[in-house]
Amino acid sequence: MKVIVTGGAGFVGSHAVEYYASRGNDVLAFDNLSRGKLLGHSIKSLYYNWEYLKKYKNIKLVKGDICDFNRFKRACQGANVIIHTAAQTAVTSSIASPRIDFENNTIGTFNILEISRSLKPKPVIIFCSTNKVYGSNVNRISVREGIKRYSFTGKYRRGINEKFPIDLCEHTPYGSSKLSGDIYMQDYANLYGLRIGVFRMSCIYGPRQFGLEEQGWVAWFIIAAILKKPITIYGDGKQVRDILYVTDLVEAYELFRKSGLKHGVYNIGGGFKNTLSLLELLDILAKHIGKRPAYRFKKWRPSDQKVYISDLSRVKKELKWQPRTDYREGIFRLISWVKKNRNLF
Ligand SMILES: NC(=O)c1ccc[n+]([C@@H]2O[C@H](COP(=O)([O-])OP(=O)(O)OC[C@H]3O[C@@H](n4cnc5c(N)ncnc54)[C@H](O)[C@@H]3O)[C@@H](O)[C@H]2O)c1
Repeated sequence: MKVIVTGGAGFVGSHAVEYYASRGNDVLAFDNLSRGKLLGHSIKSLYYNWEYLKKYKNIKLVKGDICDFNRFKRACQGANVIIHTAAQTAVTSSIASPRIDFENNTIGTFNILEISRSLKPKPVIIFCSTNKVYGSNVNRISVREGIKRYSFTGKYRRGINEKFPIDLCEHTPYGSSKLSGDIYMQDYANLYGLRIGVFRMSCIYGPRQFGLEEQGWVAWFIIAAILKKPITIYGDGKQVRDILYVTDLVEAYELFRKSGLKHGVYNIGGGFKNTLSLLELLDILAKHIGKRPAYRFKKWRPSDQKVYISDLSRVKKELKWQPRTDYREGIFRLISWVKKNRNLF
């Protein structure tokens, strides 16, 4: 099987590349190595992931931009599966530079669909969508304030499902560009018979995640705590997310591919059992590091959700998937990885 992974040098992408390569498939990782530039940081990270993947002989690394239609089309020849992870990934950068966000996330995604419908056979597509497609509607759910966390009350207590409204709310440019990609994916599945799995991902974490203040908060808090960098909490720190270990996510992609299902949209995260607030993560870190990391508070970021929890009912039922890694175990593994790789940050 030939698998193309866009954003193959990124966090989720590099895990998808490794998953398929380690099972003997030919994998082409396509990435323009722009994460650092997009998020305004100079990072060794992408090069680290790129180098890391060289240990597999069946991986081809291609430096290229998904917005370059012809170059990307050439790379896609013979693809059986395209895992589309490449994106501008931060809400903050999308607000600062909406055009760049739009070009990467909307036009780049559209190119993948146009290329895929012209290929024979047509590849299966996996699209990394996001919980941000539900925008600030999430904040209309009533929440209870506890000492260290908010929790949903009422019918969404255990999570948000795929029928949750996406209209009449703020999304931020990132939420809008991803939602546009998400809806285009659904349309191309329906109109052109492409097999497409859309995964509306909550917070994903794990080794080889070079978290920043702007994106990837679990990894960022861990890196900052270990390297004694200052942590800023936007809001009151009681925000809750369901966090999912990255290799569990990639298993869900493969279950969709194997399922034979034509099309599906899935909310995916760690679910109710793997929820965590920012303050609770600081408590866990204090135990592992021996000292509570230093932090300060700043005002809430636009459209931040007080609570987001994925209702996993559909993905469990249709793909027979569930998260395997308990968040305490996953966090421990990420801490160990960061401790071993301090020189990378
Ligand atoms: N990590 C999360 O918690 C999370 C949550 C929800 C959704 N997502 C989505 O999952 C996907 C992967 O996220 P991630 O955390 O691995 O991000 P990442 O930044 O680590 O990886 C994205 C990769 O895409 C590459 N890229 C960006 N624009 C490109 C372009 N035009 N052409 C080629 N390559 C390009 C970057 O260089 C980077 O290597 C993204 O689509 C993101 O929106 C992630």
